[in-house]
Amino acid sequence: MAPKRRILSGMRPTGRFHLGNYFGAAKNWVELQNGGDYECFYMVADYHGLTTQPHARDFEDDLFDLAGDILAVGIDPAKSVFYLQSSVPEVAELFLLFSMVTPYGWVQRTPTFKEKARQQPDNVNFGLFAYPVLQAADILLVKGGFVPVGGDQDAHVEMARETARRFNRVYKPIFPEPKSLSTETPRILGTDGRQKMSKSLGNVVGVTDPPEVIRKQVLSMVTDTKRVYKSQPGHPRSCNVDSLYKVFFPNDWQHYWDLCRKAQIGCHEKKQILAERIVETFEPFRERRSDLTRKEIQQVLEAGSRQAREVAVETVREARSAVGLLPPLI
Ligand code: TRP
Repeated sequence: MAPKRRILSGMRPTGRFHLGNYFGAAKNWVELQNGGDYECFYMVADYHGLTTQPHARDFEDDLFDLAGDILAVGIDPAKSVFYLQSSVPEVAELFLLFSMVTPYGWVQRTPTFKEKARQQPDNVNFGLFAYPVLQAADILLVKGGFVPVGGDQDAHVEMARETARRFNRVYKPIFPEPKSLSTETPRILGTDGRQKMSKSLGNVVGVTDPPEVIRKQVLSMVTDTKRVYKSQPGHPRSCNVDSLYKVFFPNDWQHYWDLCRKAQIGCHEKKQILAERIVETFEPFRERRSDLTRKEIQQVLEAGSRQAREVAVETVREARSAVGLLPPLI
């Protein structure tokens, strides 16, 4: 029987954490872990990293940075299984078995593939195409029934669900049908005020970065482009800085909104106040982060991978048997 309330989620190792990663996913991971209603599996998706960067060495530092940040914001290895995707290579076998029940048309329609293919026209590899099949294998390898992710991942979770359904129908019902658990967060745009916050676009505000870096990033934010002078009333409705006020000043954002509307506060000043608030809010994360050595991070991932692997070996054995393969002869 599949465990009832198991969660799996992952992040690609693309560098240090930013506000988008935190509010879009990790904050929710921590809350779900601490709520105690689910058994949580979280991982760093380094195999997925290879779809965009062919040399894993090139993102090894990012991998440890990301894992350290995830631990610093509150993922606790005593409560969650936190592991490295490529240290549980059984996922590759499940990926292979899933590829046989995944219609070509499903993958072809994935919106993220089309977008990535446009972004890296010189490296449109098969792994990139098959990305959601591997993601389905990630989730179902541990029989994850719930997947806390940002809205941009909904299409992938939906495909994992269809994959589970199809495998269960064609072979044997051994997998849960995963659902996404989305966070109710305001959309956080990058410092350019136009695009999603993303490391590759260089428009991020960090979480565990040093205060001076955070200040610089926040002060570079594009605000209300219609407002030229401080003496003019601002338009908080269309200002990304204001969206962040709602997050960081849940009780007094209205006050700042009014000041802005009445031209009693300038954009620069609003950003200075916001920067200090962000620096202060994340102070405990920054401290915990600076205490973690690379060796400790690696030890946590090792222990987590060992736990995840026990589950994975069992799932793959079951899946092989459902498909009708002989057990490995040697
Ligand atoms: N595709 C996800 C992202 O880009 C990362 C990921 C890989 C993932 N495997 C997963 C997320 C499994 C949830 C479940 O953010």
